Amino acid sequence: MKTAERLKKIPPYLFMELRKKINKAKADGIDVISLAIGDPVEATPDSIIDELCVTARDPLNHRYPTDEEKGMLAFRREVAKWYEARYDVTLNPENEILGLIGSKEGCHHFILARVNPGDTVLMTDPGYPAYRASILIGEGVPYNVPILPQNNYLPVFADIPTDVAKKVTAMFLNYPNNPTGACANMYFLNELVEFARTYDIAVCYDNPYSEIVFAGQERISFLMAKGAKDVGIELNSLSKPFNMCGWRLGMACGNPDLIAAISKVKENTDSGIFNPIQSAGIKALQKEEPFIKKMITIYGKRRELVLKTLKKIGINFNPPKGTFYLWVPVPKGMTSLEFTNRLFDKTAVVVAAGTAYGQYGEGFIRISLTVPDKRLKEAMDRIEKEFKQ
Ligand SMILES: Cc1ncc(COP(=O)(O)O)c(C=O)c1O
Repeated sequence: MKTAERLKKIPPYLFMELRKKINKAKADGIDVISLAIGDPVEATPDSIIDELCVTARDPLNHRYPTDEEKGMLAFRREVAKWYEARYDVTLNPENEILGLIGSKEGCHHFILARVNPGDTVLMTDPGYPAYRASILIGEGVPYNVPILPQNNYLPVFADIPTDVAKKVTAMFLNYPNNPTGACANMYFLNELVEFARTYDIAVCYDNPYSEIVFAGQERISFLMAKGAKDVGIELNSLSKPFNMCGWRLGMACGNPDLIAAISKVKENTDSGIFNPIQSAGIKALQKEEPFIKKMITIYGKRRELVLKTLKKIGINFNPPKGTFYLWVPVPKGMTSLEFTNRLFDKTAVVVAAGTAYGQYGEGFIRISLTVPDKRLKEAMDRIEKEFKQ
């Protein structure tokens, strides 16, 4: 059966390829430790699970979701309270918030809601691979903006040629950043709003790691920048802060026209989120801030362990303070892929090669801290033994 031409342009999804590799090694009896995927392993907090169980028993919830594509008003109100309390950002739950099946869904539907075939869409290199796929499925044209260590992994808007900027209709950004761990600051966010305003670019600020920052790093939202709501939306998600990746729950917040447009796409696509998942999400937002703190302490300790091990094998660097990833320079004389393969062949530890995130990811690997402590320790022991100088 022939399938659509647009799919041919999409590179294979990084994690699908990795999963195949891991499964094959496991089938061969190898004790593989994967540090490649950002998917927390500790359970979702009990209060959230309990709320799901109770609400799932109500037959009213077995029907199409309340308020369908927009998400339950109670969920949207809770999101508004959360943004007010955590970021001092005021949002109208009626028209500035939309429930999502995770922020990844939001990225995709943002493109369908904003971009016409042939429009240029900016994304960063390195960057989250799903952006490119969404742009291509929407028949937009991705334009890579390098984010480099010397610029703290932030785009330099002045380096984007004016003739390109004039053709751009949308832009993806993500800080705290996957894969580099870099964080934005208010100066940068204000610049972003100005750039977007100048060229009439709709910003999709994808912020699922907003809560995962370490000591000394300010927690910020794009919507804190003056005029942000005029030029874009922020996506957020319950996946990473509350260990709810599998639940599929997130939110889009900001510009009412974009929110209405995404809502229209959803109305004709997915009909929204199972009510009990939204009720569970309300519980998370209301009650589980201490859980976020607990997880940050856990990730902080794992970060220290990895950095200590890397130092012992001659990789010494000062990482940015966001996300549960470490963006690690590879030893001199090796490419990202060579180092990734060497790690796998010699220690059965899987990491993501930097080039999976774009050409400017060359020279780096990404290590995820979402593995049980014991397994991470085992991985670090193996790496130290193999590579100690
Ligand atoms: C930058 C970025 N955006 C979106 C997502 C997907 O998040 P969600 O589970 O909310 O769809 C991820 C997941 O790894 C991510 O790294």
